[in-house]
Amino acid sequence: MRFSALVDRVRGEGASAWRTHYEAVAAQERGEDVIILSVGDPDLDTPAPVIERAIAQLRAGDTHYVPAAGRLALRQAIARAHTQRSGQLVGPENVVYLAGAQSALFVSSLCLAGPGDEVVTFEPLYPTYPATIEISGARLVQVPASAQCRPDVAALEQLIGPHTRAILWASPNNPSGVVLNDAELAVIAHLAQRHDLWLIADEVYAGLAAGGRVPSLAAQLPDRVVTLGSLSKSHAMTGWRAGWLVGPRELVLHAENVAMCMLFGLPGFIQEAAITALEVAAEAEARSRAYCTARQARFAAGIAGTPGLRPLAPEAGMFMLIDVTGTGLSGAEFVQALYRTQRVSVMDGGAFGSSAAGCVRVCFATDEATLDRACARLRQFCEEGRS
Ligand SMILES: Cc1ncc(COP(=O)(O)O)c(C=O)c1O
Repeated sequence: MRFSALVDRVRGEGASAWRTHYEAVAAQERGEDVIILSVGDPDLDTPAPVIERAIAQLRAGDTHYVPAAGRLALRQAIARAHTQRSGQLVGPENVVYLAGAQSALFVSSLCLAGPGDEVVTFEPLYPTYPATIEISGARLVQVPASAQCRPDVAALEQLIGPHTRAILWASPNNPSGVVLNDAELAVIAHLAQRHDLWLIADEVYAGLAAGGRVPSLAAQLPDRVVTLGSLSKSHAMTGWRAGWLVGPRELVLHAENVAMCMLFGLPGFIQEAAITALEVAAEAEARSRAYCTARQARFAAGIAGTPGLRPLAPEAGMFMLIDVTGTGLSGAEFVQALYRTQRVSVMDGGAFGSSAAGCVRVCFATDEATLDRACARLRQFCEEGRS
């Protein structure tokens, strides 16, 4: 039987990058001694009041259809949180509640670009970006990173052309933890105005940045900026699939139509729990930040001085890129050899774009004992050889 052209666009070259991770997951399920630092899902629990609220709503029968854009009270709460974070004055009419920032990006992608169009993004990039953008028929253009893993804004200008519709970035970045600064954003703003572009700001990790916020263009360019957010990382709520987009009213109307035909609304009891999550955001985010800061410091201390490893300290988030070229291996070779000899699973930096091919990505958001064992194994691998 035949399939649409879409299935090829979402097949994803990135799939092979996850091979070691899935091998490690399968080995762990068989009870083998493996350490998985290849995925970003912290060992923190969802805040208790959020769980209680969901259970109470379920018991009260909140199990029916809900409007496609999300409940008004939730969209009001998201709008308030966004205003607090970005300084942009918005209301519920600027918000669509979706199943995580991932689905907010998917909806934005479908609404903002299509066949023949291009969306530009910075390396290193979150590996689902290519398929999520290219599902629309548009092409994702990748801007290489500088040696410090910062976006090369001069190269950005070169890659913008007549077909460019949008610039997409994550700040803080996954995997580098880089937060775009005011100077970088000023260049982006200038180019967006000159070339009439949309700006898609993936702020899924913003709650983990210092003070729970990152520099944003939303207040300055409200007609162009689409901000994506979620409770996944700030509240340790990855499995709840609670996220949103905030943008100009016209986009929101289109996004609501896509949400309508894709989801026909999301669970009401989770939406009420999401309101509670936003009520306790200050404590929840502070907890997640303190957790990430402590684990990052522990991991950095654990691998300090290890021959061949050059850690690139993240500004925020739960990941660290480590330049492994000093070991004589590429990121992909390092991942395979480390797993084969030490049973530690990390990600190949090349999965995030060719400019990170000499790096591996480590998620340090795990329990302290596991982190210490991982550091010892990494050290052993680098000090004692790889056979
Ligand atoms: C940069 C980036 N954007 C989006 C997502 C998806 O987040 P969510 O769980 O809100 O869908 C992730 C998840 O890891 C991510 O790293």
